[in-house]
Amino acid sequence: MESFPIINMEKLNGEERAATMDRIKDACENWGFFEVLNHGISIELMDTVERLTKEHYKKSMEQRFKEMVEKKGLETVQNEIDDLDWESTFFLSHLPQSNMADIPDLEDEYRKAMKEFAKGIEKLAEELLDLLCENLGLEKGYLKKAFCGSKGPTFGTKVSNYPPCPKPDLIKGLRAHTDAGGIILLFQDDQVSGLQLLKDGEWIDVPPMRHSIVINLGDQLEVITNGKYKSVMHRVIAQTDGNRMSLASFYNPGGDAVIYPEPKLLEKEEQNGQVYPKFVFQDYMKLYAGLKFQAKEPRFEAMKAMEITTI
Ligand SMILES: [Fe+2]
Repeated sequence: MESFPIINMEKLNGEERAATMDRIKDACENWGFFEVLNHGISIELMDTVERLTKEHYKKSMEQRFKEMVEKKGLETVQNEIDDLDWESTFFLSHLPQSNMADIPDLEDEYRKAMKEFAKGIEKLAEELLDLLCENLGLEKGYLKKAFCGSKGPTFGTKVSNYPPCPKPDLIKGLRAHTDAGGIILLFQDDQVSGLQLLKDGEWIDVPPMRHSIVINLGDQLEVITNGKYKSVMHRVIAQTDGNRMSLASFYNPGGDAVIYPEPKLLEKEEQNGQVYPKFVFQDYMKLYAGLKFQAKEPRFEAMKAMEITTI
């Protein structure tokens, strides 16, 4: 079987640029996922963010998680749990507004590191969107503009920890889903694995790799490319040993951004009638909120039906 796509971004500056761009194209079309190295975010900053995230979990989150596990009796469940995930999370908003100052238990040092990290991730997200534009034959900046709406993109980081789980066969770390938004950039633990994606009906591990960033495409990029690029199902398997850290940053459209297949990418499909819907991003998010852990196709169909009834 082909191996999980790993892209060395340094090669975009040299002789291997064309081959590297081809690998990104293949990853977007066939995997919905790839992993980038030499992405411009410094190793020192990543190490600081990792250390502070783990310290913050111990200090502010672990006790709360243990109490939740005890209250719900999760240590001793006998049947599969399908209405919750074995994860401890909090969410940091960066754009259009930061919520960092409102989160009471963040140390100044952590807040400062996360601010710098978010700046690097935002820059990387926009760089990657432009690489996708280039591969799609769209003008530079098209995707960024498509995500803009009136207030710019929505950008935030979900900080998660997956503590050791005694029943990983009965409780998922995170149940299978596709991501609703645009492009997702994940800084995952390099020691404790667990992330898997669904490819050709099989669950494949996304390999932990020190100082890499895992990229995946959300539902909106599938719509804009009219299905050329894929938003792919993924899940996290909780582990019996080790605490998995994961920082998933979501670079998404603004709430009022209108999302639709880019006309140039439509030519062939129009003849077959397989055209993705046009909608306002926040309407999609309302639908997604109740259907996150289900297949994406019925969501696209529901948006299509809504489009038809509002014409
Ligand atoms: Fe996800």
